[in-house]
Amino acid sequence: MITSIFILVLALAVALVKGAAIGDDEVYCEINPLQYTNSPLIIPTGGTTFLYPSYGETTLKIPAGETVDLVCPGSNLIVLGSRTEEVIQATCISNARFRILGERTLWTQVSCAGDATAKSLYTGAVCVNGGKIAEIGFSLTDGRFLSTITVCYDAVDQSPLYTYFDMTASIGNNAKGTPRPSFSQDGGFYSIGSRTVNQLYTRSVQRGTINAQIGLSATDIKYIDNGNWFFLARGHLTARADFFYPAQQNATFRYINAAPQWQSFNGLNWNEIENSVRDYADVNGVDLQVWTGVYGIATLPHESTGEDTPLYLYTATDGTTALPVPSIYWKVVYNPSSRRGVALIGANNPYDVNAADKLICTDVSSSLNWLSWNRLNITQGYSYACSVADLRRVVSYAPNLQVSGILV
Ligand SMILES: *[C@@H]1O[C@H](CO)[C@@H](O)[C@H](O)[C@H]1NC(C)=O
Ligand SMILES: *[C@@H]1O[C@H](CO)[C@@H](O)[C@H](O)[C@H]1NC(C)=O
Repeated sequence: MITSIFILVLALAVALVKGAAIGDDEVYCEINPLQYTNSPLIIPTGGTTFLYPSYGETTLKIPAGETVDLVCPGSNLIVLGSRTEEVIQATCISNARFRILGERTLWTQVSCAGDATAKSLYTGAVCVNGGKIAEIGFSLTDGRFLSTITVCYDAVDQSPLYTYFDMTASIGNNAKGTPRPSFSQDGGFYSIGSRTVNQLYTRSVQRGTINAQIGLSATDIKYIDNGNWFFLARGHLTARADFFYPAQQNATFRYINAAPQWQSFNGLNWNEIENSVRDYADVNGVDLQVWTGVYGIATLPHESTGEDTPLYLYTATDGTTALPVPSIYWKVVYNPSSRRGVALIGANNPYDVNAADKLICTDVSSSLNWLSWNRLNITQGYSYACSVADLRRVVSYAPNLQVSGILV
């Protein structure tokens, strides 16, 4: 009771502070940042962050006289019908009217000539377990890099260990239903012979690769069938729908943000976990910090020896392996203002009937009421929740957070 009153007072205080950005009598521009699927991104002048509508709003408000950068990464803005630059400045006059390149121009009169081009770059920094830090984002010709996702990448296993991104409290009003691009393989991250990562994931190639490891014939459909659920999908670590803008959503389709994930888990309990996290940010009006990672290697029994055999999407004749099929997926969700956090975990093996006996930390899921999942269903991905510290006792590269309590 006392806590809920406190939270209410806190929420009111936050609402007042946020609302105070633009006063009642102040002149401002008000625009729909999702006007077109090819509207430019709006970022602070000279900045590298993205502007979002305030919580609960679908429009972006910019005070009169304030200047922002309009950006079409890797392309050009079309302004009043003419192709201009990759980045141009716009100063709010009022309503939807800006001064752009000296002309009074409506927000509806600007768009991007082409799709935003994302890329992944090593930063030179390192993370734990021999991982290397890479950023996924947009590289501008003026030298700026607009990062969307940070990846701790294991260049030996050729797999992300975890990814990190900031979820906006406004995620409930994000772009929905925009077309999905295919996955891109960034240069400098893979060394897998003559095949592409995309080829390794195709149903027939993954079936041949996995079957060879467990002593099945190349075409046997015992584990990887031709249906909708039992195959290894390109499992996003940071989800597409976790971002607000179509360009950011498209940028999640990089192989360094993906690992092999059984589709029955990917499309069911893991999908529910992702949805529940977005709903949490939306319902509570909070910005969240989200780390998503993998751990261990999933196994299947060898046909002749019965031995648990670790699975990879890439194996070479010299014994080299890469692109392991993770044993679990985990997601640490942290609210920096309350300093509460939780680790959500799902088992990536619909065939492991013993999944419930293999929890890596103490299950606290009974204290969470904001997840809608069939968490005990093995086909859908047996799932549970732990404290962040408890996860980190096993997964050394999980974030080291000073958490004040479980995110309830
Ligand atoms: C996102 O990708 C889809 C599919 O390739 C494309 O149609 C769309 O224009 C892209 N959006 C942006 C903003 O780049
Ligand atoms: C688990 O989920 C699968 C896939 O949705 C379903 O077919 C199956 O009946 C469920 N099992 C149980 C025990 O509820």
